[in-house]
Amino acid sequence: MAKIGIAGASGYTGLELLRLLINHPETEIAFLTSETYQGQLASEVFPSLSGFTDIKLAPLESVSGNDCDIIFLALPHTTSMGKVPGFLEGRAKVIDLSADYRLKDPSAFEEWYAVKHQHPELLNEAVYGLPEIHRDAIKSARLVANPGCYPTSITLALAPLITENWVDLSCIVADAKSGVSGAGRKASLGTQFSEVNESVSAYNIAVHRHTPEIEQELSALANTEVRVSFSPHLMPMTRGMLSTVYINLKQDMSVEDLAGHFQKFYQDEPFVRILPPGKYANTHFTVSSNFCDIGVQVDRRNQRAIITSAIDNLIKGASGQAIQNMNLMLGVSETSGLNFPGIFP
Ligand SMILES: NC(=O)c1ccc[n+]([C@@H]2O[C@H](COP(=O)([O-])OP(=O)(O)OC[C@H]3O[C@@H](n4cnc5c(N)ncnc54)[C@H](OP(=O)(O)O)[C@@H]3O)[C@@H](O)[C@H]2O)c1
Repeated sequence: MAKIGIAGASGYTGLELLRLLINHPETEIAFLTSETYQGQLASEVFPSLSGFTDIKLAPLESVSGNDCDIIFLALPHTTSMGKVPGFLEGRAKVIDLSADYRLKDPSAFEEWYAVKHQHPELLNEAVYGLPEIHRDAIKSARLVANPGCYPTSITLALAPLITENWVDLSCIVADAKSGVSGAGRKASLGTQFSEVNESVSAYNIAVHRHTPEIEQELSALANTEVRVSFSPHLMPMTRGMLSTVYINLKQDMSVEDLAGHFQKFYQDEPFVRILPPGKYANTHFTVSSNFCDIGVQVDRRNQRAIITSAIDNLIKGASGQAIQNMNLMLGVSETSGLNFPGIFP
């Protein structure tokens, strides 16, 4: 059994990791960290865990990379950055759920996150943890940068088109909607019930920090620089994410041909489901699962493809994908602990 540590176990993604790993057949939990709840049982803090774990939450300073085989860092961005080298000095491999090791270019990190990267020497080594694109590199990685939720849904929607060079790269538009848990558990004005309920709002249009991450991955697939106009929105729901991506096709195509191409591109992928031609992705059917559902449509009057892509931001967009990466790093079945449908209604 592989020993697992979760740093930031009292946050939304940390708790989701714990919930999913409790029944994972190949792992056991070695430690959980929280600063706020240190000394308390995880099952006291989260009664949903009662009867499933008797581990106490410990401060981050008290654990090391020798206490586990894999450590998940479910910490705020810029907090993980300084912790990673210390954990790598032990025997642990690191899966960082924050954005700290996702961008290869330290100047891009500084530009978008407004701080200098403390360990630029590790950026090249870090493997971007999108298994559908980087599976082989993930298997042998010591440090995996788990992707953001928006980049997961948008990159998976675009990868089959970008790799074929069918896309007019001068105009890619991604319009995406997220549930409120995407902002994490820490209280903030914008995520209070009365601010979010009965309302849909756009935020950070054209300046969201996930933009360089999406562009980095799409540029690598296209072998040339790709730019995306990205408009995120907040929805009055707890979990779930829907991205609708608009691209101009370089050639005329039928929706059947496009759907057939997506089917073929993802035919061996356990967690990407392509919907029949003309059907659209719906957050209802991916919430509480590690699936990404993708629906394609062709607007032939405008020679445009419109792709919809739905995930659970906390699972395929964070903790489920992190476990998928862990499975690859441990050399166990990629679907281990993740092979369940979503919950509907
Ligand atoms: N939420 C999502 O849908 C989502 C999706 C993809 C990626 N992510 C990324 O995943 C990471 C975690 O997100 P989240 O939504 O789980 O956040 P969260 O709910 O706010 O949880 C953050 C965790 O980090 C701990 N923490 C905060 N500051 C710390 C510090 N200085 N030292 C040690 N521990 C500290 C907190 O615990 P205590 O206060 O108890 O110490 C808490 O357990 C973030 O980088 C986020 O961007 C989130």
